[in-house]
Amino acid sequence: MGYAIRAEVLDLGVYKAGKPIDEVKRELGLEEVIKLASNENPLGCSPKVKEALNDIINETHMYPDASNFELKEAISKKLGVSPEQVFCGTGSDSLIRVICNTFINPGDESIMAEITFPRYEASVKLMGGKVISIPMKDNGLDIEAMVDAITERTKIIWFCNPNNPTGTIFTKQELDKVLGKIPPNVVIIMDEAYIEYVTDKNFPNSLELLPKYPNMVVLRTFSKAYGLASLRCGYGIVHKELGEYFNRIIGPFDVNLFAQKAAIAALEDEAFLNLVFETNLKGREYLYGELDKMKLPYAKTNANFIMMNTLVDDKIVFDRLLKAGIIVRPGHLLGMPGWMRVTIGTEVQNHKFIKALKEILATM
Ligand SMILES: Cc1ncc(COP(=O)(O)O)c(C=O)c1O
Repeated sequence: MGYAIRAEVLDLGVYKAGKPIDEVKRELGLEEVIKLASNENPLGCSPKVKEALNDIINETHMYPDASNFELKEAISKKLGVSPEQVFCGTGSDSLIRVICNTFINPGDESIMAEITFPRYEASVKLMGGKVISIPMKDNGLDIEAMVDAITERTKIIWFCNPNNPTGTIFTKQELDKVLGKIPPNVVIIMDEAYIEYVTDKNFPNSLELLPKYPNMVVLRTFSKAYGLASLRCGYGIVHKELGEYFNRIIGPFDVNLFAQKAAIAALEDEAFLNLVFETNLKGREYLYGELDKMKLPYAKTNANFIMMNTLVDDKIVFDRLLKAGIIVRPGHLLGMPGWMRVTIGTEVQNHKFIKALKEILATM
């Protein structure tokens, strides 16, 4: 049609999300389908969230609070930071874009792991930036090599910890070793979308680092452990001056009323969060045990998913799991052919997955 589309947009692909349950039911004529593909919370959300949503069910016609006042207060209280340090958006996905909008000029470089959350790459490229992709080390981020790749054109370095899709972490000691080598004009993103699931005691405390590193941005989300993925609410913690710049770009009503109220209620329910953590831990140990018995390699995870090696063609395993009513994330879409990422589900879901996987692999 001769549209004058920017070259950066012409080059972008559309994000391929995990297959929705209804689509699989429709396409395969299945009645029961479970989704272990997008690292959603199999326990749903806190009952307190449902109450909070019921309370505002008649308020759909009202714009939400553009300043996210109460939500920022609640987050800051929980984390021990000041409300001016908190910024909120439509999922941390949208905040990744905001960060790129703020810093990336055409030709600027941004460093990320070769296998990590794909939205960093898309957002950098949208701004005309150049992605510097660093090979993995033992399925995790090679943060030393990432930092060594910094040049005078580098604007942003993306540390996804735990890393999606491998579930691996880098430790406080490893981070401490490289932080001093990062110039103050390079923005360090600590994407901690899965922090609530972390069990490793050596996981770095990024909030403690913030006062010393005003170039650090900590990103978190309500989509995972809090179980609010559909409401789209993410947040970040930064030096307050940087937060002011981000807030110039974030749309005034990006976090809708339901998301704001739900997130506040979710923060108040520690018991639910503990249940989520314990359920995930139990599921993780069960899956480790079964994968060990099946002699299938996997990456040790600190998140609510496991990246495992099928040792066969992951496309075939994915298709056959689909037919059994189980949606997972095939590794070929994530840059790891042969592997598969599976969200840790409820006990029943995990058993169903393992049973189906055993049956499929026995015939291959
Ligand atoms: C590492 C990581 N960061 C950010 C996000 C974005 O989450 P949301 O936009 O739902 O907050 C995800 C979602 O899967 C993720 O895995």
